[in-house]
Amino acid sequence: MTTATDPRTAMTTLLSPRGKRDPYPLYEALRAYGPILPLGPGQLVVTGHAECSRALRETALLSTDAAVQDALLPGWRDHSSWRWLTRNMLFSNNPDHDRYRRFFGVAFTPRRIAALRPALEGLIGGLVDRLADLGAGGAPVDFMAEFAFRVPMAVMGELLGIPEEEQPGFRGAIGAITTALEPVQDLAQLAPGDAAMDQLAVYFTDLAARRRARPGTDLVSEMVRLRDATGELSEEELVANFMLLLVAGTEAPMDLIGNALRLALEHPGHAARLREDPSLAPGFVEETLRFDPAAQALNRMAAEDFDFFGVPVAAGTKVTLLIAAGNRDPRQYADPGVFDPGRQGNHALTLSGGAHYCLGAGLARMQAELALPAVLRRFPGLAPAGEPTFRDQLVQRGFGQLLVKCG
Ligand code: HEM
Repeated sequence: MTTATDPRTAMTTLLSPRGKRDPYPLYEALRAYGPILPLGPGQLVVTGHAECSRALRETALLSTDAAVQDALLPGWRDHSSWRWLTRNMLFSNNPDHDRYRRFFGVAFTPRRIAALRPALEGLIGGLVDRLADLGAGGAPVDFMAEFAFRVPMAVMGELLGIPEEEQPGFRGAIGAITTALEPVQDLAQLAPGDAAMDQLAVYFTDLAARRRARPGTDLVSEMVRLRDATGELSEEELVANFMLLLVAGTEAPMDLIGNALRLALEHPGHAARLREDPSLAPGFVEETLRFDPAAQALNRMAAEDFDFFGVPVAAGTKVTLLIAAGNRDPRQYADPGVFDPGRQGNHALTLSGGAHYCLGAGLARMQAELALPAVLRRFPGLAPAGEPTFRDQLVQRGFGQLLVKCG
């Protein structure tokens, strides 16, 4: 890819299967046109680190709530994926966003996350044992299905009170819902996400009713009780945010663990140091978040006219924040194309920033920091067993299958 690739071609290629597989040269092609790139009237693409960071904190830029979606995707109201998504905190703006975030924030304080550590260590230990059984005698194992998905699913299952035997069955629905976040050319593309969302809505409506009748110690019981005591949320808003927690709490952490393992396999020196010294895990995970992020792009829309680093932005402008490009901005990072787990002051954009900063950031980091050294130490000869496949997605990008031999 040369720097002469015109921006529209680069954007089109980015959304093709080839672009999704390796988007990084295309980000460089776009960066050649500057950190803020107008793509015709009403559309702006941002590739700079400082610019993405500011945009995430800019109150004039809105997340994709129902009113924004009316402007962007007429017809969306006939689709249950987006009907439910626009009732959760990620796809809402104030005053609703503050209300949701206050309500659910109590469950994700640093203290509560830290208290989960022993349970997480136990869950991960059990899943590493399971991986050893599956890979006995050199049998290839799909690391994504058998470990990278199961770790966060077990964590969210434990938090939300989803029985262990039901957990593996959620993978298809969770994955299908994330496809609704991809740019939509044709509303029919939302069909898989709609069906999956309907399925999860039935599950969580029922779960909330069961926990209301017989409360347990899980988060669903706690939040149902809080809702009934305060009336701060409608039942539908409660269910919508439970679904967000399950999907956000599973798919992206799965990709973080998958990407981190792949990077370990590609960088045996770094992997060896991490095997020796698990205290290096935070640096390794942070660099994975920067270098090959599970979330590559975020969308915003301008609520009003405003000036953005000298670029006039009109109300209604659609702003695409290519945070994965921002993570490789040479103005922010020395040698941005080098995977360097020892990098100081990382500040990756992958967990967002500002009002929508990832609510589960601490939990995501903790599970990856525990899971990765546990796998590497248990299997010193771990090796790829064939080429991995990528899911055909950019917003939430990761491996479909990653076959390994657990040596
Ligand atoms: C590596 C793993 C993860 C990544 C890359 C990730 C990424 C993100 C990003 C980029 C956003 C904000 C999107 C925006 O600004 O438009 C976000 C928000 C959110 N994330 Fe995460 N996330 C991860 C793990 C988790 C986990 C484990 C949970 C739950 C336990 C979680 C729950 C949430 C929630 C509830 C929000 C909405 C926050 C709000 O709108 O105020 N995430 N995440």
